[in-house]
Amino acid sequence: MGAAMSKAWSPDSWQSLEARQQPDYPDPAALTAAESELASYPALTSLSEAGRLKAQLAQAQAGRAFFVQGGDCAESFAEFSPANIDSSFRLIAAIADTLGTASGLPVIASARMAGQFAKPRSTGTEVKGGESLPAYRGDIVNGIGFDPASRAPDPARMFRAYAQAYATLSRLRTLAHDEGTAVYTCHEALLLPYEQALVRTDAESGAAWGSSAHFLWIGDRTRFPGSAHVEFARGLTNPLGIKCGPSLTPGVLLQLLEALNPDREAGRITLISRMGAGIVSNALPPLIRAVEASGHPVLWSCDPMHGNTVKSANGYKTRPFERILDEVRSFCAITRSEGAIPGGIHIEMTGQDVTECTGGSARVTEQDLGDRYHTHCDPRLNPAQAMELAQLVATLLAR
Ligand code: PEP
Ligand code: CO
Repeated sequence: MGAAMSKAWSPDSWQSLEARQQPDYPDPAALTAAESELASYPALTSLSEAGRLKAQLAQAQAGRAFFVQGGDCAESFAEFSPANIDSSFRLIAAIADTLGTASGLPVIASARMAGQFAKPRSTGTEVKGGESLPAYRGDIVNGIGFDPASRAPDPARMFRAYAQAYATLSRLRTLAHDEGTAVYTCHEALLLPYEQALVRTDAESGAAWGSSAHFLWIGDRTRFPGSAHVEFARGLTNPLGIKCGPSLTPGVLLQLLEALNPDREAGRITLISRMGAGIVSNALPPLIRAVEASGHPVLWSCDPMHGNTVKSANGYKTRPFERILDEVRSFCAITRSEGAIPGGIHIEMTGQDVTECTGGSARVTEQDLGDRYHTHCDPRLNPAQAMELAQLVATLLAR
């Protein structure tokens, strides 16, 4: 644990540490003004909702519930519509229903919606035809169009993201009420100025929570020791996720657990393994063994998407459905053989009938990818593929 980690936490204590994947706002005064305005807006979620989710995740850690996270890789302003919210909600509810019926367990459902806007990128700039522009970092930061005006990071975009998140959450709450399926929200707590502006403090207990969602996670590119993102998250009472990719070592994972959950609170930490079908069998067991030996309570969840991204021959970023299924199968077998519990699944999917991942029973081919490829970031499962995956997980949980 770095010295900085043990110091007093405040919503802005991350600012003295290394914050990766943040935009360079050309107008710092506009950023400051946007932050203080956002800080005066209503919380999107409540402390008690986050607490209830944490208690449910503690049940999942004990094998008495299962956790499903699903939704867009990146929400966008262009794809915002009631029809899209409703179809994604219904898909998550259908997956939860399938898994609940098969496993006999209560299913905790959480949508990558109402705040999943900011994206980490492998390079800070994109070069096309000799022109170099800032990389697209999600609609909350800049525009996807390849021109200087679109790509300039604009803090005013945070207001539109907040408004869309507010409206989406409102619609999710209505659907949950009408259809009797509670759905929590979750996203990567990546854009720290936005996340900080939405920290709220409970007047009675003094507890701080990230009110931008119920569940927040730290991405694979920002979860290094001494990171601003870890510092920010550690002071929040929300349940937290840590993405665990191939470069994560057991030693670093234990440092992260000590920083984020020093009191070893049940339900606090979900470890989201996203290794890739080819290497999960080698990469995951040492992490599970280290965590088990430490006694840290965690929920093991599988993200079979992010380690299985490939480029198709015709130039699309895609994910072969078979590799996704393979990683889920391996994950379940490995957690069980290591004495841990496969307690969750984390997927990128949409209620729209897109052609972004190849394979599945509808046999999306590389040639089909161009038909309905709409994602603003990573390729998502369409409803048929997502339900097929849910059937596999149901079979694995029912054993
Ligand atoms: C994501 O979930 O969209 C993402 C960027 O994941 P990771 O941090 O695991 O790469
Ligand atoms: Co993604």
